[in-house]
Amino acid sequence: MSRIVSLQQDADGVIIEWDDGKSTPLPAMWLRDHCQGAECRDPGNGQRLLNITQIPPDIRIARAELRDGRLLVDFEPDGHHSEFGAAWLLQNCRDLESQHDDRSERAKQLWRGDSFADGLPRCDYTSFRDDATHQREALRAVRDLGFVLLDAVPCEPGEVLRVIRHFGYVRETNYGPLFEVRAKVDANNLAYTNLGLGCHLDNPYRDPVPGLQLLHCLASSTDGGESVLQDGFMATHLLREENPGHFEILSRQWINFRFRDADTDLRARVPFIEVDDHGNVIKVRFNNRSIDTIHLPPAELARFYPAYRHWAEILERVELQIEFKLEAGQLILFDNTRVLHARRAYAAIGTRHLQGAYSDLDGLYSRLNRLEATT
Ligand code: OGA
Ligand code: ZN
Repeated sequence: MSRIVSLQQDADGVIIEWDDGKSTPLPAMWLRDHCQGAECRDPGNGQRLLNITQIPPDIRIARAELRDGRLLVDFEPDGHHSEFGAAWLLQNCRDLESQHDDRSERAKQLWRGDSFADGLPRCDYTSFRDDATHQREALRAVRDLGFVLLDAVPCEPGEVLRVIRHFGYVRETNYGPLFEVRAKVDANNLAYTNLGLGCHLDNPYRDPVPGLQLLHCLASSTDGGESVLQDGFMATHLLREENPGHFEILSRQWINFRFRDADTDLRARVPFIEVDDHGNVIKVRFNNRSIDTIHLPPAELARFYPAYRHWAEILERVELQIEFKLEAGQLILFDNTRVLHARRAYAAIGTRHLQGAYSDLDGLYSRLNRLEATT
């Protein structure tokens, strides 16, 4: 744990010096804006009361000193006094240059088909439900690897919704609170047939896209119907490595996705690859069934198609995929902004029945943040 050893003051603010030789310059405006006093932050809920427009634009430091590890500052021209505790300073200004980001590829463990020699990340459902440490590990797997398998989930219709309530909230859609994945006559979606489905993410035509998907297997007595998962962030990593220009086109050129049936017409114009302010991948999209007419300037199409083909070709590489058969009572919970899923075709004889549902990543991350703070 670093400690502050000294303080310097200059015209723009203060410079904190840490015991390992690192120094952190803190402008007067930043310090005034982050005042933790009761006039500037609600003492009960910690929310900001101070608005940036209330701070004089020419804010300066009149006096600053370290006392028992605390930083005491008097500002001018507003005469405000602020105090910053040692723990707050360590947590909030030691690494100003590092970004808070639990979504981007930088914060993840990327994987391929052979990455799970010791077994897939999995958790017994009773432990997930009743034991905070097991739940924390399972949710960490979703955050870091993008998925977890739950075993021994009761084969009760609607159980998938109860699973969600342990860590977040159900995201209801036009398919209902949950959707029945089984072969039907006149299916409004190829998912509801016995055909194979290539690697995809669900619902790219929805904005915002559901961040989490659950598939709970209630019956699995057909031949075939194996499940496949693939790390979309590994796929974008390979795309960028093999052809940076292709990566750039697919993150810059947005395309249209659409889903239509008798009651619904959902449309979204979004990129295959979404990046953050540092160019790191934060979301991928791919769903061959729901790509709409590709509207791009004709001059761009000749550059777009090779990139699109390259991306789709990586998503077909079997060495990047894991394959397993979901048995009755098993459930996969996965990050639908990162991990692609597929299913092999299955025979008409026997029964295959999954119930699926969506949830959002922010609820899961919030639950995990609390579990990490308390267990
Ligand atoms: C889906 C889907 C996979 C399966 O319903 O979105 O991809 O295993 N189903 O049936
Ligand atoms: Zn799907």
